[in-house]
Amino acid sequence: MDHAQTTVIDALIAMEPTVWLNPSLRPAHTVLRSLPYNRSDLDDAAQRLERLSPVLSRLFADTADGIVESRLTRAHGYRKGGTLLLKHDNDLPIAGSVKARGGVYEVLCRAEEIASEAGVRDLDSSSAREHFSRHHLVVASTGNLGLSVGITGRAFGFSVSVHMSRDARAWKKELLRSHGATVVEHEGDYSAAVRIARKSCENDPTGYFVDDETSSRLFLGYSVAVLRLLPQLEDLRVRPTQERPLRVFLPCGVGGGPGGITFGLKQLLGDAVECFFVEPTHAPCCTLGFATGRGADVSVGEYGIDGLTAADGLAVGRASPLVMPIMEQLLDGSCTVRDDSLFVAMEQLWRVEGVKAEPSACAALAAIDQVRLASPRNPCADVAWLTGGSLLPDEEFRGMLAQAASFS
Ligand SMILES: Cc1ncc(COP(=O)(O)O)c(C=O)c1O
Repeated sequence: MDHAQTTVIDALIAMEPTVWLNPSLRPAHTVLRSLPYNRSDLDDAAQRLERLSPVLSRLFADTADGIVESRLTRAHGYRKGGTLLLKHDNDLPIAGSVKARGGVYEVLCRAEEIASEAGVRDLDSSSAREHFSRHHLVVASTGNLGLSVGITGRAFGFSVSVHMSRDARAWKKELLRSHGATVVEHEGDYSAAVRIARKSCENDPTGYFVDDETSSRLFLGYSVAVLRLLPQLEDLRVRPTQERPLRVFLPCGVGGGPGGITFGLKQLLGDAVECFFVEPTHAPCCTLGFATGRGADVSVGEYGIDGLTAADGLAVGRASPLVMPIMEQLLDGSCTVRDDSLFVAMEQLWRVEGVKAEPSACAALAAIDQVRLASPRNPCADVAWLTGGSLLPDEEFRGMLAQAASFS
């Protein structure tokens, strides 16, 4: 193992912020040819979402046109120097986080499967609801995927069980219960909750497990984001090139959301985009998997890293075995940030831009300066993908702002 990798691993073990630059990075067009998914998979997912948008618009008042999409804006006062863009997935309809992209898409796929077997046409008809009510969706989550699958699944009439890891916030559990989902609470970490949830489905003939670690449907649902990002960049007159790429920062838990978006970005922009995963110093499963070369086979616990972070959405100890091999030669890098910097970024984002995001979502902002120092290229703009937060109850948010004040 070379010196750079060892240095990164030492920093990860010490739970200090670090930047890993991918030594195996290859030109996007070469790597994309060898992946299990291609451009037409992305387009198929987009077409399904488009076709079913009338159903979503009838079921969810917050999707006016049935499209689950967020704004891209220029940050005005947040940071001096360079162009900073904010991608507002914290405001996504239905579930208020990036996990709405994958979760809504997977529930739609499942609903269409059942409706087609039953010979039912309209997914929101009473006869479709009757069929869905006899089917069970199961998911394990640190919170936001649970909200996404739970709220969507219940709106279609499915029975839904959400297994929540120890890091999940109480308000997310309450919100799910208010939608009629069953919440199963676990003392263990996220990987343990996934294992138990997956097992609970094995002997349930009506059960369907939405597998955050291995689901192609989730992955492709996330990737669709990029088709709408391109016109948004054009509207802001941001034109990435290979010499001046767009640099995108993606908060990362198991890797599904950021992996799907990276796959999509590289499909559309090739080497005119750089993608970085961002993880908490206490739960750096993907960065550790990359730097050790052990991918999803390694857990942070093996290296004495405790997995304890206030970034509940990113509190994951082992990466996705689906995503890690796809990222091997495609992802530009990955980095870790301290919990206190998440809170400081969250407070600043609220004070300066008036944007409400949860600590996990602010990982993107916390990473920018450190990657700028480590990476040789000069981007045309940085994009902070704000991955969640609009559903945060005001009281919770006020408590977090108070916590931020103690760090600054
Ligand atoms: C707010 C937020 N950001 C980012 C992520 C990361 O997504 P993934 O676990 O797919 O890497 C999550 C996951 O739940 C999340 O809740």
